[in-house]
This record gives sequence, structure tokens and C-alpha cells, in this order.
Amino acid sequence: MRPGREDDLPAVLELWHAEVRAGRQDCVPGEAHMKRLLAGFDWGARSRMVEGSRGIEAAVLVAGRPTPGGTVTQVSVACEQPEVRRELLRWGLDLSKAAGAVAAQVWCGRGHSDFLAELGAQYVRPWWRMDMNLTGALPNPQPVAGYELRDGNQVAAGGWSEVHNRSFADHWRFSPRHETELVTGRSPGLALMATTDEGAAAAVTLAHLESYTEDARLQPVGIVSSVGTVPEHRRKGLATWLVAEALTRLRSEGAASASLYVDGWNHTRAFDAYRKLGFELSFESEVWEAVFGAP
Ligand SMILES: CC(C)(COP(=O)(O)OP(=O)(O)OC[C@H]1O[C@@H](n2cnc3c(N)ncnc32)[C@H](O)[C@@H]1OP(=O)(O)O)[C@@H](O)C(=O)NCCC(=O)NCCS
Repeated sequence: MRPGREDDLPAVLELWHAEVRAGRQDCVPGEAHMKRLLAGFDWGARSRMVEGSRGIEAAVLVAGRPTPGGTVTQVSVACEQPEVRRELLRWGLDLSKAAGAVAAQVWCGRGHSDFLAELGAQYVRPWWRMDMNLTGALPNPQPVAGYELRDGNQVAAGGWSEVHNRSFADHWRFSPRHETELVTGRSPGLALMATTDEGAAAAVTLAHLESYTEDARLQPVGIVSSVGTVPEHRRKGLATWLVAEALTRLRSEGAASASLYVDGWNHTRAFDAYRKLGFELSFESEVWEAVFGAP
């Protein structure tokens, strides 16, 4: 086992494809997501590669993100051999703890949680990918009286993070986002906001295009992310409106299908609204968490 390097990425992605084929992961992250995930990633300290006669045969990566309660890491293992897998999981959990994380998360396809309980992690929730084909009829965006739709061409810089973070403040394992993370590199037409007639931000939906290789979905895929409505404007149809609008815009930018991710125990039952729009559950992941500090 040796520390990873940035140029190991192609080999890690190959291993990831094997994880997807085995049902242990839902997909190989798309390029845009991967760039965000690995921006400034310290390969030497936070990854390990297992070399065999066929080159890199297994890998573990430990990414971290800040939450109000402290850093939460995500331990990702790609490995066919169960015993090696266990050791790589253990390495990732130990590193997370030593680095002062309050919790380490492991995401795996449903039923592929071997070793996690014995390593001290607990099942915390189902995480769903929901998909929709965009080649047929799309839901009609229904404007909500008293609100206006704006996009990245009309919203002043600095306007997205506040509404995003207020909408998600009560979301499980909420992690505040900076303005640049939310809008940098995003097509301005795919950043949508509903404002009141007085101009106050009420809801947000962000989307972007991704292309995945060896993937059953029609490509490219429109990823709908960060769907949120601030509490005082909920249950008026704002999220439904913005997501329907995002689907229309994604299709006109070339998307043939759409995907989004949702917490299967989401207390605001976001998945119900997504189902009504035409999304269907396509992959269920299990989220496991080892908690080290106060959650
Ligand atoms: C999930 C969330 C985005 C929904 O936003 P919203 O603007 O309230 O969504 P909508 O109003 O379009 O739809 C929500 C429900 O209100 C209903 N509704 C819509 N208009 C309504 C009205 N005028 N009166 C009563 N109910 C109404 C919808 O039918 C829908 O019902 P359903 O849950 O049974 O499907 C919001 O609750 C939220 O921000 N939650 C926290 C962040 C989060 O979890 N985001 C999802 C991440 S994947």
C-alpha cells in the first residue's frame, strides 16, 4: 500500500467502474463533480493505493467537508477483495478520526455494507438517486402568483448562498456553501431563483450537465441539485415550479435525461414532489456513519 498521487486518478476511475458494475456504487462521478470533489485534494495524506501485478488493484480516498458541528469525511473505497476492502475502510475511518473529524461517512449500494458495523459505523439513512427521461413530455412549469423567476443573468453576485443556506439549514448534515461553489462554472440559465414581488429570495434550484461513461442513462444527464425553499415560502409550489423550469432548460441545453439525489428520510418529503414531476427511484445507496465527536 502506498500514498496516492494525482496521476493515479485514471486508475481510480477504472476501479470505480468495477464498483458500479458490482452494484457497490451508483455511478462513477461525472467530470464536473469530480473536479469539485478533488479540488485541492491532498492525495499523499488522504489516499492509499494497493499495487498488485496488474497495477493499482484497490484504492481508498478520504475527502472532508466542514459542517457547523465539525468536519465530516467521506471514505470511498474501490476494491474487489473483501479482506483488502475491510483494511482500506479501516484506514479511512482511522485517518478521519486522527484528523479530528466529528464523523466519517461511507456510501455504498444497498446491501453492500460489509464490515461497516464491525468497524464501528452505523446505518444512518437511505440516499436515493431519482432519474427521469427528458426525451418525452415534460411537466409544465407552473408560475406561483406573487413570485418572479430569475436566473444567473439577473441575480446580483452574492445572492445565491444566502437563500441556499437558509433553505438547507434544517437539512440532515447541512454544510453551508460559499457563493463561488454554487455558481462558478455554472451556465447562468441553469441557476434559478424565485423571488417575491418585492425582490426577496424565496427558493433556489441549481442544475448542470454531466456526461457519464458506461452508464445506462441517456447522455448527457441534467443534474438537478440544491433544490431548496426557505421555510416561510414552502408548500406554495415554488420548488415544483423551479424544478420543472430547470428540466425544460436542461433539455434545451442538450440533456437527454435528468437525475437528482435525495435523502430517503427527508423530513420535508422532497421525493414526493420529485415523483409528481416524473422522477423515479433508480438507485438506493446506504449511508453509514462512524461518529467520533459530538454530532
Ligand atoms: C423540499 C422543498 C425544496 C420543497 O419546497 P416547496 O417549495 O415547499 O415545494 P412545493 O411547494 O413545490 O411542493 C411541496 C408540497 O407542497 C404542495 N403544495 C404546492 N402548492 C401548494 C399549495 N398552494 N398549498 C398547499 N400545498 C401545496 C405540493 O403538492 C407538494 O406536496 P407533496 O410534498 O405532497 O408532493 C423544501 O421543503 C425544502 O427546501 N426543504 C429543505 C431542503 C431540502 O430538503 N431540499 C431537498 C433536497 S433534495
